[in-house]
Amino acid sequence: MSNNESKKYKLGMIGLGTMGRNLLLNMADKGFSVTGYDKDRKMISKLEDEGQKHSLEGFDDIESFIGSLQTPRTLILLVPAGPIVDSVIAELKPLLSEGDIIIDSGNSHFTDTNRRVEELEKDGLHFFGMGISGGEEGARFGPSMMPGGDKKAYNVVKEVFDAVAAKVGSDPCVTYIGPGASGHFVKMVHNGIEYAIMELIAEVYGVLKNGLGYSNEEIYKVFKKWNEGRLQSFLLEITAEIFLFKDTVTQNDLLDQIKDEARSKGTGKWTSEVSMELQLPIPTINEAVSNRDLSKFKKLRVSLEEAFGKKDNKIEITVDELEDAFYFSMISAYAQGMHLLVQASKEYQYDLQLQEIAKIWRGGCIIRAKFLEDIYQAYEKDNALEHLFGDSGIQNIIKDTLTGTRKTISACINAGIGIPAFASTLTYFDTITTARMPSNLIQAQRDFFGAHTFERIDQEGVFHADWNKLS
Ligand code: 6PG
Repeated sequence: MSNNESKKYKLGMIGLGTMGRNLLLNMADKGFSVTGYDKDRKMISKLEDEGQKHSLEGFDDIESFIGSLQTPRTLILLVPAGPIVDSVIAELKPLLSEGDIIIDSGNSHFTDTNRRVEELEKDGLHFFGMGISGGEEGARFGPSMMPGGDKKAYNVVKEVFDAVAAKVGSDPCVTYIGPGASGHFVKMVHNGIEYAIMELIAEVYGVLKNGLGYSNEEIYKVFKKWNEGRLQSFLLEITAEIFLFKDTVTQNDLLDQIKDEARSKGTGKWTSEVSMELQLPIPTINEAVSNRDLSKFKKLRVSLEEAFGKKDNKIEITVDELEDAFYFSMISAYAQGMHLLVQASKEYQYDLQLQEIAKIWRGGCIIRAKFLEDIYQAYEKDNALEHLFGDSGIQNIIKDTLTGTRKTISACINAGIGIPAFASTLTYFDTITTARMPSNLIQAQRDFFGAHTFERIDQEGVFHADWNKLS
């Protein structure tokens, strides 16, 4: 490297909103020479203020920014997913040279990433899709990072990512995921699992509140206790805290002042869409997506409650049985997400290493949980494991929790408590553990009305029967 080059920055961030700024500050804390670019001067001032101890500087002029970087240049994009990514790339392209690396760290759809990889490859540019999880805190102090793209190019940035990622022991929560858009694909599935676990926790809240009549403070205690044991997870930890939070306007519990209409940015829906595309069922995630949508039909729900009458949701179960149901369903949510990754890896030739993915989800990300250690161990033992339910350790946990799960779910159904994610999770388990499903009838029906043929259990080939002969 020439003397002039060594004075240049190792990495540049494009987009200095909270996520971009925090990640850049994290990199500077770890001793890397980094800089940032944003069209908005206010964002640059914020970076310069917060990064005073590292004398961080930012640019609002793209040409000077690009000129300030060592080659090959490494650029991280933290801008809103969608067309903005394309317009930033268009602006950058004439200023870049062969071998430069662009890393899109937003929640982009993996098919957009595929397209961008292919387009930029023609100019010798490496395009990475990198999912980052952990929110603003994660970006600042250690996220979980899922980079996918050209493996050789990854080596240029590896030391930076290893340094800034969250750590579990000494293991950084980042690994090379695979080629093409695999990084964004894995992040999307992470979010699908995130949706499922959030929905399951919300359903537990409904059961504790409406089925067992618990107050917010009592619910806080349940979640806090659960979080001290086998269920320990980031999502349970923050959920417990929500139940104690007071509203500054009314002095009531803030949770009670919040509308029961859940919003979303779309990554959960994408996970469901892809699962249909790949014909790989993930019903718990699907229910989580659908139930956020159902929650938005507030007026309809209110009028239908009037029409059908308010239900007496009271049930008799123990909190330990409810804990079993949650543990069982949480395991299934992870299992479905991992199963989707197995299928996608085959379909898109990602060569995903599931043990590595479980390993980097143990810290920094939103779905981090004690149970991820079990998942990691299961794939460490057998990295060709088709489904987590096939692991003997996981089987033992499922067998232990099944009685409490069945009791909880049937009690809720009998009392009219809406628990779509719990119910579909249990019935998914009952179906996937059934050697002979009633699907032979569907084949017979299709052949009856449409001559679509069927396969026999005792002979190879396809067959058609003259069903009308019956009548
Ligand atoms: C993360 C999160 C994050 C996501 C939000 C909001 O891993 O840090 O998954 O990337 O954007 O959780 O997602 P929704 O608006 O879809 O709920």
